[in-house]
Amino acid sequence: MRSTNARPARRGLQGRDILSLADLSGAEVTTVLDAAARLKRAQGADLPHALLPARTLGMLFEKASLRTRTTFVVGMVHLGGQAVDLMAEHTQMGVRESVPDIARNLERWVDAVMARVYDQNVLEELAEYSRVPIINGLSDRFHPCQVLADLLTLRERLGSLAGRTLAYVGDGFNVCHSLMLGGALTGLHVRVGTPPGYEPDPEIVEQARRIARGSGGTIELVSSAEAAVRNADAVYTDSWVSMGLEEERAERLAAFAPFQVNAALMAGAASDAVFMHCLPAHRGEEVTDEVMDGPQSVVFDQAENRLHAQKALLVLLVRGEAALEALPS
Ligand code: CP
Ligand code: NVA
Repeated sequence: MRSTNARPARRGLQGRDILSLADLSGAEVTTVLDAAARLKRAQGADLPHALLPARTLGMLFEKASLRTRTTFVVGMVHLGGQAVDLMAEHTQMGVRESVPDIARNLERWVDAVMARVYDQNVLEELAEYSRVPIINGLSDRFHPCQVLADLLTLRERLGSLAGRTLAYVGDGFNVCHSLMLGGALTGLHVRVGTPPGYEPDPEIVEQARRIARGSGGTIELVSSAEAAVRNADAVYTDSWVSMGLEEERAERLAAFAPFQVNAALMAGAASDAVFMHCLPAHRGEEVTDEVMDGPQSVVFDQAENRLHAQKALLVLLVRGEAALEALPS
C-alpha cells in the first residue's frame, strides 16, 4: 500500500528523491552543479554557509565506505546540521523490521536519508514509504552522488560538458550506469569499453540514449579499451571487483586485464585528457601507479567534489533553491 503520508506538492528539487540521475532533468543537474560551485567558493572563502541549521540526515550503510560516509558527515556539519549513523547491524533492514516500517519511522525524525544498499529495490521501497528525501549512496544499479561530483570536476577542468567525450573503461556496473545517465543529461559523448559479458545493462543504455537525444549527447558501446579512449577528453575507470562480487575475483581479473588504464592506454586519448576514478582504486589492477599519480589524474578532485556536490544536493532537497539566496553567487 502506498504511504498514507503523501508528500506535499513542492516546486523544484525540494522533497525529491535521488535514486538515479534519471530522477533529474538536465537543467536540474546544472542547478545542482551551480549550487555546488557556489558552496565550494563559500567554503574556500571561509564564508558562513550554515544553510541547514538543526537539520538531520540519517545514513544507512550496508557496505563499506570512506568517501560517501565522510563527505555526508562533514557536509552536514558545514551546513549547520548533523548526520546520524543508522548502523546497518542495528537497523537490520528487512530482518528486524520491514523496509516500509523503517521508512515510516525515519521520516518522523530526520530531514533526509542517505542509504548505501545492495539492492536498488530497497531504495525504491524506502522512497515509496518516506515523506523525506531518499538519496542513493550507491546500489547495485547506480551511484548518482559520485557522478554529480564527477560532472562538477569535469566542468571545472574542461570549462563545459556538452560535446566533450568521456571514455569509460572496465566494468559496466553501477558507476558506469550513472556516468551514462549523467553524460546523457549534460550532452557528453560517453564511450563505454567493456569485455564481453560485462557490458552495462541494456535497459539503462536505452534510457541514457533516450535522454541523450534531448541534449545532443551520445552513448556508444565498444569492445576494446583502445577504441573507447580514442581522442577522449576524459578516461574513467572503476574497480573490476565491486563490493559484493568478491567471489568472482579470479575470473574478473582475467577478463578485465586488457582494460587496464596505463600510460600506453592514456596515450590514445587526447593529449590533455584527464584520468578519473571514483575510488577506491586497486593499483596494479584497473589503473597503474603511473596514471593514478600522474599529472592527468584528477581523482582527488573528484573525491573533494563529493563534499561540495552533496552539500548542494542536501540544501536543494531539504530546503529548496530559495535557501541558496543567502549565499554570495
Ligand atoms: N567513491 C565512493 O563512493 O567511495 P566510498 O565507497 O569510499 O564511499
Ligand atoms: N563499483 C564500485 C564503486 C565503489 C565506490 C562498487 O560498487 O564497489
